[in-house]
Amino acid sequence: MPTSTAATQAFLAQSQGLVDAELDRLLASIRQPSTRLHDAMSYSLLGGGKRIRPALCLAAAQAMGRDADTALVPACAIEAIHAYSLVHDDLPAMDDDELRRGRPTVHIAFDEATAILAGDALQAAAFDWLSEAPGLDAATRIRLVQELARASGAAGMVGGQAIDLESVGQQLALATLESMHRHKTGALIEASVRMGALASQSTTTEQLEQLTQYARALGLAFQVQDDLLDIEGDTAVIGKPQGSDAAREKPTYPALLGIEGARGHLRELLRSALDSLGGFGPEADPLRDMADFVVARTH
Ligand code: IPE
Ligand code: IPE
Ligand code: MG
Ligand code: MG
Ligand code: MG
Repeated sequence: MPTSTAATQAFLAQSQGLVDAELDRLLASIRQPSTRLHDAMSYSLLGGGKRIRPALCLAAAQAMGRDADTALVPACAIEAIHAYSLVHDDLPAMDDDELRRGRPTVHIAFDEATAILAGDALQAAAFDWLSEAPGLDAATRIRLVQELARASGAAGMVGGQAIDLESVGQQLALATLESMHRHKTGALIEASVRMGALASQSTTTEQLEQLTQYARALGLAFQVQDDLLDIEGDTAVIGKPQGSDAAREKPTYPALLGIEGARGHLRELLRSALDSLGGFGPEADPLRDMADFVVARTH
């Protein structure tokens, strides 16, 4: 397995800086009557996180030979959807987890109702931000809204979460497990890359297709590694309770294929992601680095 290089760390740190500053600004611009709701949203959105999806969005814009400016607000919108999905994923009715990013989950730090509302509000904020993302024409904004809505709703992340919850205690067939992962995690990762490319307003159909193939492989790889970390990770490092999947009898790749089988699959997915970028030059190096990072990550 590759390890993440200094270049990857530098790219991630740079995009993290841009994204965190913009998220701060966007969140502060929401005029809301409840301080408690604002605090819960802020706790969830600004409290750490690797910012992998926004980094992929910015890296995809860079692969199109553009600077990342027009992809920044779309990147933040994706992160808001991701943050909302985590707040709801941790709720007692879902995974019932009390630790996230090394801190109490939102429903523990605040309360369940506030966590539900903070998730709801983050979801709405994502689409509000996209609707007025600077530097983009109206048709591109609508296209981005559509990409994000489809990736996050019943045809994407929420649909995958539904299968996840319906499958507790069951041994899924490999194809069903893959479909679940592609929806619950893959869809938003795929959207991150596609939205970065679309925000460049210069992508060809062929380029978008190649980037989509890259993102599909990476999205699946991301969740396979997440499943492995649930077994092999250390709570203090992953920042969420190790063993949560096993305790809740979640269907996972290692549960079905064994640890070595899951690792082998991860290697194949990495190769497939990198092969999809064959038509791109060094402008796609941040995407290549991100792929290495996703499969080598320890948290
Ligand atoms: C965790 O995602 C949830 C999954 C989709 C598996 P990340 O590992 O990207 O979480 P943060 O944002 O860095 O905490
Ligand atoms: C859920 O996957 C991913 C989401 C759509 C939020 P997990 O339930 O495995 O994510 P973690 O392990 O709690 O971060
Ligand atoms: Mg879950
Ligand atoms: Mg979970
Ligand atoms: Mg997990």
